[in-house]
Amino acid sequence: MREILKVIKNRASVRAFDRSKAVSKEQIEAILEAACLAPSARNTQPWRFYVAESDKEKQRVMQAMSEHNSWANEASFLIVVLADRRNAYRPEERKYYIDIGLCLENILLETVNQGLGACPCAAFDGEKLAKLLELPEYLEPLVIVPIGYEAKGDAFEKVKERYGEVIERAAHKIGGGRSLKECIFKWA
Ligand SMILES: Cc1cc2nc3c(=O)[nH]c(=O)nc-3n(C[C@H](O)[C@H](O)[C@H](O)COP(=O)(O)O)c2cc1C
Repeated sequence: MREILKVIKNRASVRAFDRSKAVSKEQIEAILEAACLAPSARNTQPWRFYVAESDKEKQRVMQAMSEHNSWANEASFLIVVLADRRNAYRPEERKYYIDIGLCLENILLETVNQGLGACPCAAFDGEKLAKLLELPEYLEPLVIVPIGYEAKGDAFEKVKERYGEVIERAAHKIGGGRSLKECIFKWA
């Protein structure tokens, strides 16, 4: 059971991809299967996926992406994780965001398990994407996950906070490095 910790430790955001290696349909399906096995409030399973694999579909998704995420162009495929508000638990309170977050983590961990890399992207224009993908109003695009084989020399430095250890975050200063003690709001 310690295997899962290995996968968790091996996960880090990947933003440079090696397009010379093809990703198989089985790998994509394994990732989607893991996504669908996430827990959700009242078992509502409010996730839906838009999988962009062809160049045409990827370009369509990329039109809504923020400029600083242009590296995602090189991904082998993109998963747009959508929330289906029709069967979401307490949609007015946005409880389904928790379900989608859990689903996203399953995607990221199975991606590592498949020997691939990914980085979740929230920096995109959701309204524009909904129009581009011709989504019905009840489907809300929440996160885009570009996935592929990691290229050597990923431009972003990977610095992780370790359990009980304070590390300055080099690449992303938002929030800064926090110690475990600082992360605990209350331990009663
Ligand atoms: C909800 C969410 C949205 C994110 N959006 C972006 C994004 O738009 N672009 C990007 O480069 N990274 C994005 N990230 C990646 C974070 O910057 C990254 O997870 C964080 O710096 C920690 O690094 P790590 O993933 O390597 O542990 C996002 C992460 C999450 C969880």
